[in-house]
Amino acid sequence: KQIANIRNFSIIAHIDHGKSTLADRFLQLTGTISEREMQEQLLDDMDLEKERGITIKSHPIQMVYTAQDGQEYYMNLIDTPGHVDFSYEVSRSLAACDGAILVIDAAQGIEAQTLSNIYLAMDNDLTILPVLNKVDLPSARPEEVGMQVAELLGVEPEEILHCSAKTGEGVVEILEQIVHDIPGPSYSGKTTTEALVFDSVFDSYRGAIAYVRIFEGELSKGDKIKFLHTNREYEIVELGRLGLKRTSLTTLTTGQVGYVICNIKELDDIKIGDTITTIADPSDTPITGYKEVKPMVFSGLYPVDKGEYENLRQALDKLKLNDSSLTFEPESSQALGFGFRTGFLGLLHMEITQERLRREFNVEIITTVPNVVYHIILKSGEERFVERPGDLPAPGDIETILEPIAKVQIITPTDYTGAIMKLCEEKRGNLDHMEYLETTRVNLHYHIPMAELMLDFFDKLKSVSSGYASMDYEFDGYSADALVRLDILINKEPVDAFSTIVHRDDAYHIGQQLTVKLKELIPRQMFQVAIQAAIGSKVIARSTVKAYRKDVTAKCYGGDISRKKKLLQKQKEGKKKMKSIGKIELPQKAFLAVLDRN
Ligand code: GTP
Repeated sequence: KQIANIRNFSIIAHIDHGKSTLADRFLQLTGTISEREMQEQLLDDMDLEKERGITIKSHPIQMVYTAQDGQEYYMNLIDTPGHVDFSYEVSRSLAACDGAILVIDAAQGIEAQTLSNIYLAMDNDLTILPVLNKVDLPSARPEEVGMQVAELLGVEPEEILHCSAKTGEGVVEILEQIVHDIPGPSYSGKTTTEALVFDSVFDSYRGAIAYVRIFEGELSKGDKIKFLHTNREYEIVELGRLGLKRTSLTTLTTGQVGYVICNIKELDDIKIGDTITTIADPSDTPITGYKEVKPMVFSGLYPVDKGEYENLRQALDKLKLNDSSLTFEPESSQALGFGFRTGFLGLLHMEITQERLRREFNVEIITTVPNVVYHIILKSGEERFVERPGDLPAPGDIETILEPIAKVQIITPTDYTGAIMKLCEEKRGNLDHMEYLETTRVNLHYHIPMAELMLDFFDKLKSVSSGYASMDYEFDGYSADALVRLDILINKEPVDAFSTIVHRDDAYHIGQQLTVKLKELIPRQMFQVAIQAAIGSKVIARSTVKAYRKDVTAKCYGGDISRKKKLLQKQKEGKKKMKSIGKIELPQKAFLAVLDRN
């Protein structure tokens, strides 16, 4: 069975291909917002998002469109986060839709995220409506790009719509096509209630709010409900539809998209992908596709000023209110003092969080080199997941170290293929296969260790391809390699913040680099400072900062030999003491330079 007058869809696109601009046009054309209310990039409301030009958080919005057939349609536009780090959220948003508009920049053509988005939409059995945008640009090549898209999707080039989200040309045709081609929500007609939670937000007055799509049955104010995965029960305090603002209703019926509020204090208590059912019409079959999201990348965050520790904690707490995928717990480091071990979904998530701490909360932070989660198999047969290099068991106890591998696709003009392949090889990448999108553009499929992607891969890719290559990646399981923990010892004491896990073949080189760099940065002390790089008990590189001999006898006006001896003796004891407690003045600069990821 189908509901005729509802359309649930999303817009998917590679970054900058015009998703937000097109969404704005829809809102204007349907009168959802007036010209006056219209601000640029309405859907992107965080400053940082605007600057980076990526939509991080989804905002579903309902428009009422009177189509050329004279009927009114409720069009629910479900926005999706634009980056692979949030691919689980994207997949849940798409699961709430019946169709997707695939926007492709007619000048740029197919890019890496165009493809990954198509795969996600196909996984969710969505009707895909391809649209070539920016046809107003002189550099637009709608015929050529149209052919590629047609081939990719197995449609006729004539079926692909052309538009300019900027001028508004061709946009009404898209709305009409949505009405015709995207099916209304279907349902089986069973008596139980099932609603998919595809997103959630935190409101300081109302607590955590769930965004839902009703697949079967209905939800009403006052209903007692249950979340099938968390097994928690609540009562619905308010529900309704999402226009520019929330509008409360008494009931959300089958096929509808809206919000549900039920006195849930923390965002973490609502799991994206969970299924809501009612106590009155209970279902015991959760909607498929639910996953527990786990952080993939970890980094230590320390306040630059030790007195800022509490502020840092409060800032993290606040960020966590709106971002349940962020995890953190206190940790301490001999070198950096008290801070937090922080887990992120991926690199972009990490960068955005660190940037927000600096900008929105004004906390100066030092971040340690990010690391992935390693899967360790011990000789005893025991298995462990290690989130920080310092927690790696002794080398003698380890049978195998497995590291996360990313499946990477890189789309590039063929001129840069050689340079990119060289880069991927340096990063321990394995070419899986390559395919030509057209004679001058190729799609390279690689497997590359996640740890290698984290350093400077993206910047290097942009630089070797003069900015023309685009890439996307996803986690593709664990694989074993010859990995070792590289420690840095300063006067024989390991400095935890400097430990890293590296490939055995790179260990010597990296050890050498670090010891040389540190030698330049550590000022002379009263005693000699030995800097060593070691794997287990084996030292593989060393450097020395020579002692600076303070002339303690200068004040002794010659003469009194015994006094001079006594002073020298004292100085020697002092030396010993300082050495034994490893009290070295490590300037913060040294840490920053070594932790600098490039
Ligand atoms: P993300 O949110 O970063 O994924 O980008 P987006 O896909 O939402 O792209 P956005 O709508 O922000 O547009 C990117 C840039 O392209 C902006 O500078 C727009 O003004 C411009 N743009 C969008 N549509 C058109 C169009 O039809 N023609 C022209 N000439 N420019 C356009």
